[in-house]
Amino acid sequence: MPSYRAPRGTRDLLPEVRAGFSRLEGIARSLAARYGYREMEIPLFEQTAVFERGIGEATDVVEKELFRIAPRTEDSESWALRPEATAGIVRAFVQHGMQTLPQPVKLTVVGPMFRYDRPQAGRYRQFWQWDAEVIGDPGPAVDAEVIEMGRRFYVEAGVPDVQVLINSIGDAACRPAYLETLKAYFSRHAAELPELERRRLELNPLRLLDSKDPAMAALVAAAPRISDHLCEACAAHFESVRAHLDACGVPYRIESTLVRGLDYYARTAFEFYRRGAEGQQQALGGGGRYDGLVELLGGRATPAIGFALGLDRVLLALEEVGAETVTEAPPLAVVAGADPADTVSRLRVASLLRAEGLSVRAELAPRKLGRQLETASKEHAHFAVIIGDELAEGNVQLKDLEAGTQRLVPLADLARELARASKSHHHG
Ligand code: HAM
Repeated sequence: MPSYRAPRGTRDLLPEVRAGFSRLEGIARSLAARYGYREMEIPLFEQTAVFERGIGEATDVVEKELFRIAPRTEDSESWALRPEATAGIVRAFVQHGMQTLPQPVKLTVVGPMFRYDRPQAGRYRQFWQWDAEVIGDPGPAVDAEVIEMGRRFYVEAGVPDVQVLINSIGDAACRPAYLETLKAYFSRHAAELPELERRRLELNPLRLLDSKDPAMAALVAAAPRISDHLCEACAAHFESVRAHLDACGVPYRIESTLVRGLDYYARTAFEFYRRGAEGQQQALGGGGRYDGLVELLGGRATPAIGFALGLDRVLLALEEVGAETVTEAPPLAVVAGADPADTVSRLRVASLLRAEGLSVRAELAPRKLGRQLETASKEHAHFAVIIGDELAEGNVQLKDLEAGTQRLVPLADLARELARASKSHHHG
């Protein structure tokens, strides 16, 4: 007997959970519209080079977590499932010549991402992000606007105690010297470095600060900090980002070891955490400025910033605090009938009402009327439309299941009557 299961690290979003996602997506879309972002779609997979170049070859996401699609023999192109949306959005920005549009271009994507990660609570191989990008604005004001929008998402979603951690990781002017300092520091401690980190030291020393290895904690804590090595321009930029956040009343904490896991970042970097869960690799969201990425993917040098918020983790956080995430609306009416066999009339009347925009369920099982009404009450339908002999004269019985009243209504008026009831009621 076959027993199939969803692949490890993925999950079926059953209707209750899907409804929770839809609610979050609705909040994301509403915020995006209010802040002037336009929604778009990019493919679920791209040429592997988009991610390798964009995100960086020496990152966890590309090195270990990329879902590579086995190439078909007839073509030699190499593809991978998208581990995030930023690289794809920037690829699209360049491909469609969006640098000729009025700048900045504000784009948003909501959808699934794929990372071949070790599955655990809050870490999936397919997960959902709300991604927002502002391309063509060097900041610093827009940096604060982006962070403020992200924080507002958690407020509107009802996740309590979300903390904003921010840092500046410098730019092409000051980072190289800092990286040398960092490399020198970790080289002095090479003997204490785990194998993976020693290898990274050459390729990408910044990533050591973000190490998940507990053996690194003390070394990282004592490492030289980028905040002490910013050039004047980066320091002024960061100071202004903070001033704009202060002005909007966005509380934040400066986290000088925050470097983010992707290579494209420069200057502003930030993450959102539940208070008390900061060190646990369980960010609710994160983002930053990526002034070099457009050029790296073949466009004109264009500054940009954005974030991605993990919807799975937001839902988990809501569950943890016991927040009610969704209420699914029952049907306004159930179309029932005195003659169990007359499914034709029931389906026809239900179809008429649905064409008028009403949410109704047709009782299509050949059951006795009493059973049909019992089910309708149990599912909290407000009305039952009961079809009987009166249909010959063009009438049906409209039973208010909540009030327990019943009256004869011409079929021609039924949709209007129900629509009025649904407006003056919580249904609909
Ligand atoms: P990221 O930090 O890699 O950034 O991911 C953003 C968020 O996606 C994380 O904070 C987390 O909530 C969620 N997430 C990541 N991996 C998983 C997973 N395996 N399971 C569940 N949730 C996950 C980015 O993706 C950047 N593209 C953000 C960005 C946009 N930067 C600039 N623009």
